[in-house]
Amino acid sequence: MDKKFKRTTVTSALPYANGPVHIGHLAGVYVPADIYVRYLRLKGEEVLFVGGSDEHGVPITIRAKKEGITPQDVVDRYHTLIRDSFKEFGISFDVYSRTSSKTHHQVASDFFKKLYENGKFIEKTTEQYYDEEAQQFLADRYIVGECPRCHATDAYGDQCEKCGSTLSPEELINPISKLSGAKPVKKETKHWYLPLDQHEEWLRQWILEDHKEWRPNVYGQCKSWLDLGLQPRAVSRDLDWGIPVPVEGAEGKVLYVWFDAPIGYISNTKELCDNNPQYGNWEKWWKDEETRLIHFIGKDNIVFHCIVFPAMLKAEGSYIIPDNVPSNEFLNLEGDKISTSRNWAVWLNEYLVEFPNKQDTLRYVLTANAPETKDNDFTWKDFQARNNNELVAIYGNFINRALVLTKKYFDGKVPALNELTDYDKETLKEFSNVKEKLESLLDNFKFRDAQKEAMNLARIGNKYLAETEPWKLAKTDMERTATILHIGLQIAANLAIAFEPFLPFSSAKLRTMLNMPDFSWNQLGKIDLLATGADLGEATLLFEKIEDDVIEGQIQKLQDTKKVNEENEWKPNAIKEETTFDDFCKMDIRVGTVLDCQKVPKADKLLQFKIDDGMGGRTIVSGIAQSYSPEELIGKQVCFIANFPTRKLKGVESQGMILSAVDKDGKLTVISPSRAVTNGAEVG
Ligand code: 2FM
Ligand code: ZN
Repeated sequence: MDKKFKRTTVTSALPYANGPVHIGHLAGVYVPADIYVRYLRLKGEEVLFVGGSDEHGVPITIRAKKEGITPQDVVDRYHTLIRDSFKEFGISFDVYSRTSSKTHHQVASDFFKKLYENGKFIEKTTEQYYDEEAQQFLADRYIVGECPRCHATDAYGDQCEKCGSTLSPEELINPISKLSGAKPVKKETKHWYLPLDQHEEWLRQWILEDHKEWRPNVYGQCKSWLDLGLQPRAVSRDLDWGIPVPVEGAEGKVLYVWFDAPIGYISNTKELCDNNPQYGNWEKWWKDEETRLIHFIGKDNIVFHCIVFPAMLKAEGSYIIPDNVPSNEFLNLEGDKISTSRNWAVWLNEYLVEFPNKQDTLRYVLTANAPETKDNDFTWKDFQARNNNELVAIYGNFINRALVLTKKYFDGKVPALNELTDYDKETLKEFSNVKEKLESLLDNFKFRDAQKEAMNLARIGNKYLAETEPWKLAKTDMERTATILHIGLQIAANLAIAFEPFLPFSSAKLRTMLNMPDFSWNQLGKIDLLATGADLGEATLLFEKIEDDVIEGQIQKLQDTKKVNEENEWKPNAIKEETTFDDFCKMDIRVGTVLDCQKVPKADKLLQFKIDDGMGGRTIVSGIAQSYSPEELIGKQVCFIANFPTRKLKGVESQGMILSAVDKDGKLTVISPSRAVTNGAEVG
């Protein structure tokens, strides 16, 4: 570690507690963070690994509403599930807490208050969408409408999931409230903004000049943001789930989830240190210039961790800012984007049941394929190949041979090292610099290459035994056999250390087999880790082969998901039975102009239209009140069936039927001529 630092605080993004975690989470953030932390600990450095659940934000409230439970119920359920999954995968947090905790509410609230009192915010009153029926302001996610880019009809106020565009609610065509289906109105509301524009200068210097070593994807994204010019960002929201804005007159407002979540790293540290004095005072992990702060995140979190959170910390004044923000790109699954809503994922809780005791296999594959520089793909075939051809065939096979032969020929005791041949010396030289190689990769967050290097050590061992063939020599030359196995066992001990950050469960198992309870990073590259004559433990298989049928089962599971998704996809109705021109001619379709439109009392769905039909006018009642507000169609031309028998609907006589298209979500859109025509004109 850089001399100027004494200790390291490592954070990993707090996952939203509104669903289980999947392989994308593990590959993107938690496995790399855990490798790094385990490596530092093994080196004997002072390190703190902070995690936790992000329990605020609108999606959690949407999920709660959908399930008819409270947001607290939602986060209670998923916090536990996520925390347990991480634990099972050996993600070695010092603390894993949650943002609904009392400590966090207090810390985040105090943080806001300090910035507020020191004039670090600006206050702005703006017009935001409001649902008059539900009597509340609408978060972006609660507004849906037509995407102005691709015209999908179900875009959210912040994003269109079809074309991926980032949107603002104002851009949506025909926005409606997801809460009540009403058309939202604009209403004034006051919020607090962090004036990022005032931070731009130091951020430019700090990132673009002082941190050129950051990963190109991180540096590049920051540069684009900075080059576009930073704008003030609202840090509060009109919502009833979150941390109340601690300012008088701010009733009904909470801290924006992206304001409180990163403070969660601090609160969780505080909670840990307050309850466990061995960690020292929490402030040393966050306020001491000799502490290095590293944030592990996914690429969608870059701006918040490189620009917004550092600006918050700087504005507060007493905190350090991150030294590096290693962010990964995304992991895809079998060629498709991982998606929670389409259930296109490998869920960790399911993996743990379906692949018991195979956490290290997944850790290995996710690191071997880590999306460090570009998006990468996880496939079950690759998972199987890496397990069978690398973990089993190289690493496992080598360990098994070394141990079984020692048991067989030397009664399970480390045999003596006798005279070395040139080949022995060559082999030892080959791995003598493994420590330096691994360090330079791990220090630079190149976990994928680092794991390859560790595997290379197993390859060296495997090749050494394959070429020296001690099982043949044992018949004629026990002295030589002893030397070979002695070297083999020393390589095995090195592997237990080298792989500890990557495959902690297998390393622990291997150490038991080698009977090496104490170990440290500094022993790496040495060949005296096991003493001659020392007893070895029981030899068991380090890894197991994964059979084709298991993999086929997983592939089938995904295919089933795909099928369900396809079935759920909207398809146009089948074409109706053939009709005749004569039948069509019986329909008298005309064009008219809407003169007036009103809601029909006591009827949710009905609107009553007064139409200028060029023939003295008529009234038509139409069931489109959920798709249009009454005033929206006034003055527009519509098409209607003019020779329908008169019907009474909720007491109003309807003389015809207005034609509309029914969209996949049931929304109705009235059919109008593409240019003005004379009222009463026939359609045919
Ligand atoms: O993207 C996410 O899943 C966020 N919950 C990450 C938050 S990271 C930190 F700020 F807490
Ligand atoms: Zn779109």
